[in-house]
Amino acid sequence: MKIISIIGARPQFIKLYPLSKELRKLHNEIVVHTGQHYDDELSRIFFDELRLPKPDHNLGVGSFSHGRQTGLMLKKIEEVLLAEKPGLVIVFGDTNSTLAGALAASKLHTKLAHIEAGLRSFKMSMPEEINRVLTDHVSDLLFCPTPTAVRNLGTEGIKEGIHLVGDVMLESLKHFLPIAEKRSKVIEKLDLVPEEYYLLTIHRAENTDIENNLNKILTNISKLDKIIVFPVHPRTVSRIDELGLTGCIGPKLKLIKPVSYLDMLVLEKHASVIMTDSGGVQKEAYWLGVPCLVLRDETEWVEMLTEYRNRLLNIQTEEITQVISTLSKTAPHKDNGLNGEGASARISRIIEGTISN
Ligand code: UD1
Ligand code: UDP
Repeated sequence: MKIISIIGARPQFIKLYPLSKELRKLHNEIVVHTGQHYDDELSRIFFDELRLPKPDHNLGVGSFSHGRQTGLMLKKIEEVLLAEKPGLVIVFGDTNSTLAGALAASKLHTKLAHIEAGLRSFKMSMPEEINRVLTDHVSDLLFCPTPTAVRNLGTEGIKEGIHLVGDVMLESLKHFLPIAEKRSKVIEKLDLVPEEYYLLTIHRAENTDIENNLNKILTNISKLDKIIVFPVHPRTVSRIDELGLTGCIGPKLKLIKPVSYLDMLVLEKHASVIMTDSGGVQKEAYWLGVPCLVLRDETEWVEMLTEYRNRLLNIQTEEITQVISTLSKTAPHKDNGLNGEGASARISRIIEGTISN
């Protein structure tokens, strides 16, 4: 069967890796890159380092307002689907590329599979929540990473096509961590001492677009006792400039360009604590057994919240220095088989057993 995988943003390149390998054993996979992320550090570096299949179509959409960006993608994806006539379209996660792919496929009555279905923050003001709810409601196959995701879909009245398969991102982590530990020189390059630094990433609208929130994050985190390594998403760089917040960045907060996946895994593994609003980074912290402060009021990854591991932190009301002192590092999470191991093979088998026949 001809399958089109639609990707466009950094985490989707990482999710594509294990699934693509499985799909290609049985199917003809065509990769469409919407061009939502286009900087080398957010896109090309992943294709090179992970040896991802080169996109068959690069739509070159770029950055715009949500409506314009999603609309441009929708138009261009539809053209590709009309030309390629796939038997199935696969979309990943919760970005505008996900929603555009889902709308284009469903309007053409092409079967649609959603990887990471059923996740909910229950906060419709998040662009990601809109994208994932709408995508789930037009999907034929809903591949859920967690039991909570399965329950969420049931609550919304979705009855068919739901499969608990585990997490493709854990497969990527397990495959690439040993390679990263051999190849990455990031600790030496940044002159870091393992366990003696914190790692920070922020890019969510709620943390970067509201001046008071971004100000508090930068100011409070700058007060911590160790170096804070901060690979900055370009969106956050722009907001710091536009909002005139460079003065909030203290000497311990080390801003660096976004790093490659291998460097990121090594930075995560040896961090004393990770602070993030990223979906992918909070999962990786959990799997690596590194304490993580999720800089949000809620998370879709509720299974991972525990007192000493992943913990929500409201930067407006809580004192970060006190919270950090209560966290401790534990052994890496032992996955129970449904958390990720074999997720891609499971997905591929389900596709084979349902859509292909
Ligand atoms: C997007 C996703 C978010 C995901 C994140 C992963 C949506 C609504 N958001 O957020 O769910 O967690 O990707 O990283 O789809 N920019 C560049 N270079 C690039 C790409 C973006 O400079 O290559 C800048 C532009 O100023 C752009 C801004 O970043 O306006 C935001 O980019 P966009 O893709 O719209 O959203 P992200 O914040 O990256
Ligand atoms: N990541 C990376 N380099 C960075 C920051 C993140 O390789 O500088 C990886 C990270 O390890 C994870 C994924 O990108 O696998 C998470 O993407 P992001 O935080 O952009 O998006 P989200 O997961 O929140 O949608």
